[in-house]
Amino acid sequence: MEIIALPHEMQRWAEAARQRGETIAFVPTMGFLHEGHLTLMREGRKRATLLASSLFVNPTQFGPNEDFSRYPRDFERDCALMREVPVDVLFAPEPDVIYPKGFQTWVEVTEMTKGLCGAHRPGHFRGVTTVVAKLFNIVKPHIALFGEKDYQQLRTIERMVQDLNFPIEIVPVATVREPDGLAMSSRNAYLTPDQRQQALALHGSLRAAEAAFKSGVRDPQQLVSVASAWLQKTPEVQLEYIETADAKTLEQVTHIDRPVVLAIAARVGSTRLIDNLVLVP
Ligand code: PAF
Repeated sequence: MEIIALPHEMQRWAEAARQRGETIAFVPTMGFLHEGHLTLMREGRKRATLLASSLFVNPTQFGPNEDFSRYPRDFERDCALMREVPVDVLFAPEPDVIYPKGFQTWVEVTEMTKGLCGAHRPGHFRGVTTVVAKLFNIVKPHIALFGEKDYQQLRTIERMVQDLNFPIEIVPVATVREPDGLAMSSRNAYLTPDQRQQALALHGSLRAAEAAFKSGVRDPQQLVSVASAWLQKTPEVQLEYIETADAKTLEQVTHIDRPVVLAIAARVGSTRLIDNLVLVP
């Protein structure tokens, strides 16, 4: 696996590959890889002749009181896991290369970032779309893969790609879960064994609402009540939000007559976790 730290070198690599007629699949990451990332990479491997990844803990998508400085990092382990996939090229820049002195250009998807996580993490999605736009210009992929676990991120990036005419196909990949249902996340590493158990309440509450949906409930508020009631059985888990939204546009819905996403964010101790599932009538 080639490791590249500078944007112009990465661009040269991508241009040379494209001239040879290769196709490039891209999986951007913030490292501390788990089975979710590896699933994205294996899928990318199948869909193109070359697989690129990036490892960059992006400071601009963390709020001032969030976990940027303590975000888990293990570069050597991540490289070993990527080599196993195998990844052909890893772009791993330093922060001052991505955000040099004088940096002042931002990419913002205005509407679909207002609700859900966007309402609780001001500036988060602006940081995500800005870095992903930069990574797209640097890595020059034909396709890029994103997990459905970060559902609002996925839809927001699709919107950005459409609005800004990036010639890139976005491929969504289903959330990878532990056998007991917990959605894989680098942040699960923060959880104590007790908290790990309590965190199951997130997926449990979504499944409870899904059962009500399958039995015919089409009122979003009623589903949210079912999910909240389930979550309250684990008082250690502090709810940030449970909401439904149109699965494509993320607009609010008053009746479920098209696919909707049921999304949850909650804290277990100081760890913020998210999960979601899509309900299709
Ligand atoms: O999903 C992530 O890990 C990050 O938000 C991403 C897409 C790599 C941008 O920093």
